[in-house]
Amino acid sequence: MNIELFDSKYKEDVVNLYLKSYKNLEEYAYTHKEDVEVYLNWLSRRDIAGLFIAKDKDKIVGFMALDGNWYSKKYNKIVGAIHELFVDPGYFNKGVGKAMMEKAIEYFKQRHLDAIELWVGDGNQRAMAFYKKFGFEEDGRYNFWIRMVKYL
Ligand SMILES: CC(C)(COP(=O)(O)OP(=O)(O)OC[C@H]1O[C@@H](n2cnc3c(N)ncnc32)[C@H](O)[C@@H]1OP(=O)(O)O)[C@@H](O)C(=O)NCCC(=O)NCCS
Repeated sequence: MNIELFDSKYKEDVVNLYLKSYKNLEEYAYTHKEDVEVYLNWLSRRDIAGLFIAKDKDKIVGFMALDGNWYSKKYNKIVGAIHELFVDPGYFNKGVGKAMMEKAIEYFKQRHLDAIELWVGDGNQRAMAFYKKFGFEEDGRYNFWIRMVKYL
């Protein structure tokens, strides 16, 4: 399994994988292809160097969108943001998410950032347990979103 930079030729595959990965989590995700495409464009405008895919041979099994220039209202400074992270459900619990998280930590450390912020749906227990494993802590809520932070 490899972590590679995202390329726009993978756009269609990533959009389809997003919809597959967020099955049963629709209340926290876009459910229409067109919306996911617009979202993907937004992610690439935020930090084009922060988009990564995980590949198993030729198959895309994960995607991650990092942002090394995110102004956090809570912490009143620029932090690293993980805007998006998802894995093919057929590959859950096989270390794909872990490999991407290790890449994220390396990416933000290289940019001399000292915190990572992200938001997770309050009923998304799997993701919350995953983030806690990597040292993220809950630090606030906005509607049904929980803010999590990890200090580097
Ligand atoms: C959350 C998600 C990215 C995790 O990816 P993954 O590839 O299954 O995670 P990994 O296999 O790399 O697991 C890494 C660690 O987290 C732990 N972990 C994973 N799922 C877990 C769970 N449900 N409960 C507790 N721990 C869990 C693993 O035990 C592992 O630790 P270990 O290496 O010590 O065994 C994946 O489940 C996913 O894509 N979910 C749907 C989309 C989503 O919710 N994204 C996050 C939005 S904020």
